[in-house]
Amino acid sequence: MSRLTVDGLVVEFGGLRAIDDLSVSVESGELVGVMGPNGAGKSTFFNCVSGVLTPDSGSVVLDGTDVTGAPPERLARAGLVRTFQDTRELETMTVRENVRLAARDHPGERTVPALLGSDDARTTEDTVGERADELIDTFDLTHLADAYSGSLSGGQRKLLELARALMVDPDVLLLDEPFAGVNPSLTREIAEHIRALNEAGTTVVVIEHELETLTDLAERLIVLQQGTLLVEGEPDAVVADERVVDAYLGGGA
Ligand SMILES: Nc1ncnc2c1ncn2[C@@H]1O[C@H](COP(=O)(O)OP(=O)(O)O)[C@@H](O)[C@H]1O
Ligand SMILES: [Mg+2]
Repeated sequence: MSRLTVDGLVVEFGGLRAIDDLSVSVESGELVGVMGPNGAGKSTFFNCVSGVLTPDSGSVVLDGTDVTGAPPERLARAGLVRTFQDTRELETMTVRENVRLAARDHPGERTVPALLGSDDARTTEDTVGERADELIDTFDLTHLADAYSGSLSGGQRKLLELARALMVDPDVLLLDEPFAGVNPSLTREIAEHIRALNEAGTTVVVIEHELETLTDLAERLIVLQQGTLLVEGEPDAVVADERVVDAYLGGGA
């Protein structure tokens, strides 16, 4: 059974079909890349899958359950979490506060009650704090834990966004352009984190706008163009595909 399936997805904004009859599946444990020129519908696809947007038609099925139109909190409880292309941290809070808050952004979130077995508010607070500090350390942000998020570089914000997403210990992680505006060495570092998460069992779907970036990371690429599936398959074959090259040349990307 597929982990995540969308079938016949349609999203319209006014007269524009941002997603036009899209059907794709992701298997459990896969690391899939979603590519396509600007405006292809990549973020809109994530918005439907993560409950930010209800599609005009079509379905979203997670682990065999129809979750079309389910709110983000319910999806997070079911183990699906996404990051945003424009990072969502609060600039006037510190890195540590932002990571801790991610637990509260998802009421009924998974990790903390499981770790706890206690209703004690103080213990919850400690557990959230410990988990946050672990993640801050994992992403090499410890030296910035007390810095305001507004002072971070674009790449550090992407690391913070990943740490926030992982506060809820997702089974399915959707990453919207985690490499955009990130320098090459941090890009490699983020790619390694994603690979490690996937190897530990997390199903990962990564959006990336540029050709080539995902070829070493993803097992399979899905290329969107004008809201439809253009090509999917193994990365090397996909980036060499004439239709993909043409889409990028013609897509104003
Ligand atoms: N909230 C919205 N309102 C109106 N149009 C939108 C909205 N979100 C996206 N679009 C349009 O839908 C199309 C797909 O956008 P998007 O999914 O953001 O593309 P991508 O992430 O592939 O760059 C674009 O033409 C975009 O302008
Ligand atoms: Mg986008």
